[in-house]
Amino acid sequence: MGSLRDLPDVSLLTISILGGTGPQGRGLGRRFAIAGNQVVLGSRSAERAQEAAAELSAADLPVVGADNSTAAAKGDIVIVAVPWDGHGELLVSLRSELAGKIVVDCVNPLGFDKGGAFVLAVPEGSAAQQAAALLPDSTVVAAFHHVSAVLLADETVDEVDTDILVLGDDRQATDTVAALASRIAGMRGVYAGKLRNAAQVEGLTANLISVNRRYKVHAGLRVTDI
Ligand SMILES: NC(=O)c1ccc[n+]([C@@H]2O[C@H](COP(=O)([O-])OP(=O)(O)OC[C@H]3O[C@@H](n4cnc5c(N)ncnc54)[C@H](OP(=O)(O)O)[C@@H]3O)[C@@H](O)[C@H]2O)c1
Repeated sequence: MGSLRDLPDVSLLTISILGGTGPQGRGLGRRFAIAGNQVVLGSRSAERAQEAAAELSAADLPVVGADNSTAAAKGDIVIVAVPWDGHGELLVSLRSELAGKIVVDCVNPLGFDKGGAFVLAVPEGSAAQQAAALLPDSTVVAAFHHVSAVLLADETVDEVDTDILVLGDDRQATDTVAALASRIAGMRGVYAGKLRNAAQVEGLTANLISVNRRYKVHAGLRVTDI
């Protein structure tokens, strides 16, 4: 029987984040750095990345900034945290830097109107499947869709109370990303299926945004009985 405890040691891995200047990338970077991982925040502008990293490294966290291409090359694991609009174009441009690496996609293809958030149609099925189609030499894993960037940034929140659904077609890669999620205090990484099931995980974010708006919270998810 699989256990949430049988996970690889990922403490020495460098975590790079494309679009690391935004709330999601910056927040994840902060938490991985607190856990002790070296973090590289990426950006389309090296200067913006260095500014974002300086705020975190001022708090003695192991974070540096670089342009997205350098960040992609430096990371053992590379997280994609850019808006859905720029997703495909950015990944195509970094195909060679990302070859041979685990690429973690947390992008939620959502639209927003007066009714709130809604799911956008994606020809490949999901953002994660688009990443896999565009990066044939990388191992794409989907994770971190439901975590609140507000909680990640909040210095009064010591434990981020949520499970992280981790999806992918390569078991070693999903175990590695589940282990990474589990390094953030309060979080557990939970395997949740193959990449072909990523669409509903990305789409569920629209429901969580509705929960957040209705109850004025930053809701997370817990999987029971494991
Ligand atoms: N915010 C959350 O709570 C949250 C939670 C879970 C998942 N997510 C997902 O994480 C992703 C990032 O969320 P976010 O709120 O951090 O987004 P964001 O602030 O809108 O964007 C993040 C960064 O992406 C870069 N970027 C913007 N447009 C781009 C483009 N066309 N091409 C390449 N890079 C571009 C920007 O950095 P530079 O200008 O420095 O390059 C920006 O700072 C989204 O796909 C979202 O669905 C967000």
